[in-house]
Amino acid sequence: MDCTEEMVKILFQHQHGLIITRIMSTACELGVFDLLLESGGFLSSAEIAERLGTSHMGMEKLLEACVSLKLLRMEKKDNEGFYGNTDLANLCLAKSSPKSQCQYIQFYSEFVYTCSQYLTKAVREGKHQAPLVFGTSEKNMYINISSSEERLEVFQNAMGDAWSLYGQEVISAFDLSCFHVVCDVGGGSDAFAKQYISLYPNSTVTIFDLPEVVERAKKHSVSSEEHRINFQSGDFLNDAIPEADLYILARVLHCLNDETCLALLTKLYNACKPGGGVLLVETVLNEDRSGPLAAHIYSILVMLVLEGKERTLSEYSTLLGAAGFKDVQFKKGRHLDAVYGRKENISF
Ligand SMILES: C[S@@+](CC[C@H](N)C(=O)[O-])C[C@H]1O[C@@H](n2cnc3c(N)ncnc32)[C@H](O)[C@@H]1O
Repeated sequence: MDCTEEMVKILFQHQHGLIITRIMSTACELGVFDLLLESGGFLSSAEIAERLGTSHMGMEKLLEACVSLKLLRMEKKDNEGFYGNTDLANLCLAKSSPKSQCQYIQFYSEFVYTCSQYLTKAVREGKHQAPLVFGTSEKNMYINISSSEERLEVFQNAMGDAWSLYGQEVISAFDLSCFHVVCDVGGGSDAFAKQYISLYPNSTVTIFDLPEVVERAKKHSVSSEEHRINFQSGDFLNDAIPEADLYILARVLHCLNDETCLALLTKLYNACKPGGGVLLVETVLNEDRSGPLAAHIYSILVMLVLEGKERTLSEYSTLLGAAGFKDVQFKKGRHLDAVYGRKENISF
């Protein structure tokens, strides 16, 4: 059998995935998309190189690659190339855009690149490689992250980026307006909480996370609605959880094994007011595990540094049901999905 055009395309793309990430992250890091957004039009490669302090040759190659990746557009005038941002670059790759994903891209190209070197070992051994990745004997990835200010900053900023793109979709997946006291368990920064209170102005959100994480999040919280976002530090497995009528668990359960998920959900169920609920935000696997690709990618990343896994809706429903939550509902999103369960009202 001969290699078809489609096979060649797939092969090439997968062979070069690593360098594609790096091309995008390098252009972000050097400020190419910011300069082109500010300029509001097209600039020559020589001018871009000069204004960003790079070599002309290197910048020209980078710009051409970005055009092929549909991150930039190029127009020829008098045989010279002039470059401008695509809509995608203006929206997601310029640092000044409110929906910028640059911090996630930076995290991905540095931290995930380092982790990925241990993938073969993780697959062989069937266990995560956090001590090797972080160069310590500490197995818990979150303790490793929060023990370094620099690492914590990169991680927290990276996680926060998602909410400017997907926050409103996830938060509006169900009508949550009846809940006024909300706790974002393992919330990280205030990025999700800010989106939440903008849609539900009558609610307050408490971000519950590890002490170092909360400390940093508090320092960097610049919400004008400060009184509606609170912070509480603690360990969600060993400490009491604040009482609330809605608990958010965004990208938390996929970090945990089934046993720990059940312990955490049961704890939330017990702390939850009657009639309250829990909202899980995850990229949910299809029932036949055929996709989506994003869920399989997260599965691999999680396997590298944590004991968790991605799950199907049936698997999340089983865990929610075992903890006591009822009426489980699901809403598929463009990237992050919402699973919602309720605690019954006490009836006499
Ligand atoms: C993948 S991040 C998700 C952050 C946030 N929910 C989001 O989606 O942007 C997981 C979060 O859980 C927190 N976390 C992990 N273990 C924890 C524990 N035992 N107690 C409290 N928070 C914990 C981490 O510090 C981190 O902020």
